[in-house]
Amino acid sequence: MNQNSTPLLDAISSFIDTNPAYFRIPGHRLDRGISTRWTNRVGTEIFAYDVTETPYTDDLHSPEGAILEAETLLAALYGADRSFFLVNGTTCGNEAMMLSAASEGEEILIARNAHKSAMMGLVLSGARPVHVMPEVLEEWGIQGGITPEVVRCAFMEHPNAKALFLVSPDYYGVASDLARIAEICHAHNALLLVDEAHGGHMYFHERLPMGALAAGADMCVQSMHKVTGALTQSSVLHIKSHGIREECLARVMENLQLVQSTSPNYLLMTSLDCARYELAMNGAQMMERALLLADSARSALREIPGLRCMGEEVTQVSGIAGVDGTRLVISAKELGMTGYALEKQLLETDAVNVELADYENVLAIVTYANTELDMNRLTAACRRICQVRPWEDSRKDRLGYAPMRLPALPEQCMTPREAYFSETCDIAWRDAAGRISAQMIAPYPPGIPVVWPGERITGEVWDYLEAFRRDKRHIHGLSGAASATIRLIKE
Ligand SMILES: Cc1ncc(COP(=O)(O)O)c(C=O)c1O
Repeated sequence: MNQNSTPLLDAISSFIDTNPAYFRIPGHRLDRGISTRWTNRVGTEIFAYDVTETPYTDDLHSPEGAILEAETLLAALYGADRSFFLVNGTTCGNEAMMLSAASEGEEILIARNAHKSAMMGLVLSGARPVHVMPEVLEEWGIQGGITPEVVRCAFMEHPNAKALFLVSPDYYGVASDLARIAEICHAHNALLLVDEAHGGHMYFHERLPMGALAAGADMCVQSMHKVTGALTQSSVLHIKSHGIREECLARVMENLQLVQSTSPNYLLMTSLDCARYELAMNGAQMMERALLLADSARSALREIPGLRCMGEEVTQVSGIAGVDGTRLVISAKELGMTGYALEKQLLETDAVNVELADYENVLAIVTYANTELDMNRLTAACRRICQVRPWEDSRKDRLGYAPMRLPALPEQCMTPREAYFSETCDIAWRDAAGRISAQMIAPYPPGIPVVWPGERITGEVWDYLEAFRRDKRHIHGLSGAASATIRLIKE
């Protein structure tokens, strides 16, 4: 298959070359009708590629031409049987996987560190989640991988579970042993669904953990916008049949129609076509560059007294089969500084923007598109912060109180879908302990729900979330001024 081609980009270019008298949607008429306030800054050419279904440009929901060709090239590159372009992020891919794998009332195993889009898929499908707990990486205060043993035990207790859904690699680059987990799932006639939002690049360098498809997953979804060069919201879903529950795989395309716009954005789809092209032609060099940049920054960061940066040594920990070396998890814990304070100081010191902060760490994502200068700014800012020690004057910035660990699983009183459609009431957050939540509540990022709809809010859960709320962290699922209101099931 000729990966040195860009079928969708070429199809739109051919369409533009016909100099069309345009009476279709969108109304901005290629590059003419966009506000000059914007075009004065960015130029006009790109807007001509914001087109719709035409005889040249195919139809995402029933592809037969350029989009199908582009998706076929993508599937060949990743070793999938079939791949789909997504214009609503990995969010809609996870929803479609959920909808396809288990129906109302059926059980599905889900890693507790799953992104909230997994829960949203269950609201749509009505399936019953059975949570499996990831290991904890105590040294870094984050969750680790899901062990094959935990998966085996979960299937022993829930032999009718239709699938396992997990995230690998996770935000911090931690990958589970997907090959062994796939074997266990298939032995139970269950599908392995992998949220590979952070792993579209795994397939292009031997130092990166094994990709989900290579490891035996039946479906996986990748956010191509996260690190592989596509525009925000552009993701892909891959299917690779292992002869397990093939009727589910056949339903994916139908389910994608439920969760995606009927007006898919051609800029996004073209960005997927071009990102695939770059990965096919230059993927190994792109990943080599990202790894080299990250490696040298990691060495420099480790030389700063008191500062730590996670590396391959964590693969010694149970449940972790590999770690993505392009993720820099940086902690100033030994100096007594929270990750939140470090994030704020990095911004203030030299406009260094990291992806996220948690209680103990910040996470910097390094890609092929970063520069040596970017890396120098990151390491120099860290050096300066550790010298000046600005956190010492602020109680909030100091790592004082006990480290936060994800609370134990609360009681599940109803499925996410039952909870979502139950009668609800809004009450003050301070009175919420002991009640059943109607919503998911997730500190964001990383968007991992601490409470799912239908779960009882235990005292431990309340305390955990309260620590975020008190520190004015961004929380999805609490509303009102100071996140002081919660929607509960009416009892
Ligand atoms: C693990 C994980 N899954 C899914 C998503 C959602 O992906 P998207 O933003 O592409 O919809 C995210 C977003 O950060 C994520 O971290």
